Amino acid sequence: MLVNNAGFQTYMPFVDLSIDRAGEEIAVQVTAVMRLSHAALPAMIARGEGAIINVSSMLSFRGSLNHPFLPKRSVYAATKAFVTTFSELLAAELQGTGVRVQALCPAVVRTEFHDIDGKPVLRPNVLVMEPADVVKASLAGPWQGDTICISALEERERLSAVTDASRALFDAGRGAELASRYR
Ligand SMILES: NC(=O)c1ccc[n+]([C@@H]2O[C@H](COP(=O)([O-])OP(=O)(O)OC[C@H]3O[C@@H](n4cnc5c(N)ncnc54)[C@H](OP(=O)(O)O)[C@@H]3O)[C@@H](O)[C@H]2O)c1
Repeated sequence: MLVNNAGFQTYMPFVDLSIDRAGEEIAVQVTAVMRLSHAALPAMIARGEGAIINVSSMLSFRGSLNHPFLPKRSVYAATKAFVTTFSELLAAELQGTGVRVQALCPAVVRTEFHDIDGKPVLRPNVLVMEPADVVKASLAGPWQGDTICISALEERERLSAVTDASRALFDAGRGAELASRYR
């Protein structure tokens, strides 16, 4: 099993984010996920079993665009969108090989992720999950067939609704004719 877990947040307006730090975030949360998966997969496929768990985030689904309590997060959320899309398509590609891939998408979890200078900076009323519960969901997930594991999601059909809507949008946007509003 490979768990791609390393990551950090850069919650701030994009123009205030150091470009080197943004590049480091992409190196850790995109390039490393891709390179480690690529390195681990051949042996897993040869053995006919294995699992890759890519720690993504609920923010890979973006959340409200200008929500007053959600942080500014363009680079962080975009790296996690990569992780979720990469995991979902890779899982589909590996069907029948015995190798499973999961995008683990927690919301807020009680870890040092939210500390600044060693001190937690979470708002008092924010809903926080314990790390053990995220792990429990993740390890239950593959055996229930969840490629995207959302540890706090009660109604699983909400996820299928997103997948269905995304597929419908893709089909509707594939025409050869310019949409009337652009003519
Ligand atoms: N906590 C949340 O609310 C939350 C929610 C959704 C998703 N996530 C995701 O969960 C994953 C784990 O985060 P966490 O909550 O456990 O945070 P954490 O307690 O801050 O742990 C982050 C881990 O990533 C490693 N790491 C950070 N920067 C790195 C770098 N530049 N190079 C290599 N390793 C680095 C850290 O290693 P060192 O200890 O050696 O620095 C540490 O092991 C991340 O991918 C994060 O995006 C977290």
